[in-house]
Amino acid sequence: MGKQSNDDVAYWTTPPEVVATWRTEGIAVENYVTGSQQIVAADVLNLLGFCHVPRTAEQIAEHLGLTSQVSDELQGFIDELNSAGLLTASKDHNRGSLSGTAWEDWGPEAQYFHWTTKDAPYLESDETRELYGDDLGALEQPALFKTYPEAPTIHLPRLLDLGAAPYGDVVRHRRTYRRFTEDAVGLEPLSALLAWTFGPTRFIDAEVFGTLPFRAYANAGARSEVETYVNVSRVEGLEAGLYHYNQLEHGLEYLAESLTEEDLEYLSYHQPMVSKAPVVMFLSAKVQRLSHKYKHPRSLRAMYIDAGQVGQLFAMNSTALGLGPTQTAAFRDTEIEHRIGIDGVNETAVYCLGLGVPSTLDSAPTTLMASRHTTLVESDNAQA
Ligand SMILES: Cc1cc2nc3c(=O)[nH]c(=O)nc-3n(C[C@H](O)[C@H](O)[C@H](O)COP(=O)(O)O)c2cc1C
Repeated sequence: MGKQSNDDVAYWTTPPEVVATWRTEGIAVENYVTGSQQIVAADVLNLLGFCHVPRTAEQIAEHLGLTSQVSDELQGFIDELNSAGLLTASKDHNRGSLSGTAWEDWGPEAQYFHWTTKDAPYLESDETRELYGDDLGALEQPALFKTYPEAPTIHLPRLLDLGAAPYGDVVRHRRTYRRFTEDAVGLEPLSALLAWTFGPTRFIDAEVFGTLPFRAYANAGARSEVETYVNVSRVEGLEAGLYHYNQLEHGLEYLAESLTEEDLEYLSYHQPMVSKAPVVMFLSAKVQRLSHKYKHPRSLRAMYIDAGQVGQLFAMNSTALGLGPTQTAAFRDTEIEHRIGIDGVNETAVYCLGLGVPSTLDSAPTTLMASRHTTLVESDNAQA
């Protein structure tokens, strides 16, 4: 054992949830779980880097080129970093406060986003008006509908019948379909589905935000950031192709030849429920439509929640129309962005939906074996 192993020696470690970012004000070091943040000088970064494994104050002093005697000033500084959660006192390697929790597997990327966007300072509406009011009114609003004026456009039927299924039946029967028949999807149901899922239902006067569309799904601030690209392989009376859905005109704008089954297989990580679907929809988000109003990073959560809202509406409407919906988060974002011709920065892919004429129900009823390795109820002493 080395001479520093006695229990009185303090060891200092930088916890793994400490990150540094380079900002105009300087180097910001923060513990993203506790939320403490400081602008620091470069030698502090050096110190924190050195303490990625436990170090004594003497080792720190030596590393910084100071005398091996720990000055009061250095000790005070170490204590300060310790109270800020940037340095912890531990003899063992510090695995961080999230070690052993459900967040460990998702790593620092997910942890950072989640904790830095937790408990955002929401403003009361008066404060919002005060903060943004005139400024926002004066700024040019991002366009709320995307169109391809040069693209040949199919104007879809306006017979927007959602079927007569009782709502209770729709709720009871909604499920994810992974197998479809060879049948083509009807043009009228597809048209109704597009209109009642993605199209505007009415418009409101939103003061400094101008006129905003409402839809059958709720979306943060009615900012309408979701755009829809429709890959048609088999739809009655509609030429196969890759289209953009023009929400305002209720039309399909032809962009390119349809993606093949092989293309879709590749883009969906070999999921037949996507590659064999007669219709696949790629949803994107036009980021500035949201960021024009919402300036906090938490708004990214709203963007993903909105995609979920529209995804559920798509599933309910498909069910009402007797069609089989599917959805996946497993897709090759960058490739899809490239294939549909969006930049992946200002407009980014967020969701992939599929549609077909449903085949047989493919989920098996539960078995005894499956029940045996299932925990349905948390026991009293289980960790929260
Ligand atoms: C965000 C999201 C991603 C999903 N990704 C997949 C997927 O990649 N592959 C798949 O087979 N099902 C996927 N599903 C479907 C779920 O597995 C399905 O909803 C779940 O098993 C419950 O079944 P149900 O939808 O039929 O009620 C996804 C669902 C959601 C909401």
